[in-house]
Amino acid sequence: MQAGKTTIAIIGGTGALGAGLARHLARAGHAIVIGSRSADKADAAAQALAVSGGTVKPRGAGNADAAKAAEIVFVTVPWANHAAILDEIAPHVAGKLVVDTTVPLVPPRVARVQMPPEGSAALAAQKRLGTGVRVVSAFHNVAAHKLQKDEAIDCDVLIFGDDPKDREVVLELAKGLPAVSADPDQLLLVVGNLVSNAVQAMPEGGRLTVTTASGPEGLALSVGDTGAGIAAEHVGKIFEPLFTTKPRGIGLGLAVARSLSESNGATLTVESAPGRGSRFVMRFA
Ligand SMILES: NC(=O)c1ccc[n+]([C@@H]2O[C@H](COP(=O)([O-])OP(=O)(O)OC[C@H]3O[C@@H](n4cnc5c(N)ncnc54)[C@H](OP(=O)(O)O)[C@@H]3O)[C@@H](O)[C@H]2O)c1
Repeated sequence: MQAGKTTIAIIGGTGALGAGLARHLARAGHAIVIGSRSADKADAAAQALAVSGGTVKPRGAGNADAAKAAEIVFVTVPWANHAAILDEIAPHVAGKLVVDTTVPLVPPRVARVQMPPEGSAALAAQKRLGTGVRVVSAFHNVAAHKLQKDEAIDCDVLIFGDDPKDREVVLELAKGLPAVSADPDQLLLVVGNLVSNAVQAMPEGGRLTVTTASGPEGLALSVGDTGAGIAAEHVGKIFEPLFTTKPRGIGLGLAVARSLSESNGATLTVESAPGRGSRFVMRFA
């Protein structure tokens, strides 16, 4: 099955992770059915989702009806309610792909995963749903708040499942998450150069900050330091080839960094306050 433009139910889509995943899957053009224990609550969540983009209007339904309507069913509910929800959707998911996001956490000790006797939440789901259901487990390490704020997902998304074709379908769905398409070696060169400059700008020590963010202006990667900063008369020149303020520099590092950024579809800019530090921002539109 191709993942493209599929009807996807998000069981527990009123919650933190489900709402975030629904947002991104809707934007990727999939038809989303939010599932909830309350159909009214699901409708309200679907209406909220509709304003965040997507070409197909999302809708809400009770969990069982949502599972019935979909080709792919995401389970995004707390571990405490995992078994009960699986029992509720089981009659409607035969032959379907069920993507289980559950991390077996038992409050109040949520800092430690408490593995079920089956070995994992996904194996428990597979046992409960039976072999006729294709369970894939994924997205456990993706932070809900990042999805909801459209922040870049700066981690690998781990996907487990018996069937490579099903894993591939989920991989395609994960590709809809905010990310950048860039040459990793070139990106590493740019970031390495920026980090090295930042460290050199703080010979007495300081704070190096590397952040990623996503918003209406695109994805941004920033490297900041609390070092000497750049003199106002130099700020406009630092990306020029052969311009340097370093005693032994040749003035190519930032010129190459900007050129590599541009060839990967990004801009590279700087904000600096003499005496307080600098922040370089690589922004992917
Ligand atoms: N939050 C994250 O960053 C994150 C990241 C990765 C994985 N996960 C996993 O994803 C799953 C969902 O996490 P979440 O943070 O999205 O959970 P959540 O917001 O607390 O709950 C998700 C939804 O589950 C439903 N639900 C069903 N039974 C429930 C119960 N007994 N108590 C409370 N809610 C219940 C609720 O929907 P209705 O009331 O509409 O039925 C709720 O909106 C968990 O297994 C978690 O381990 C979470």
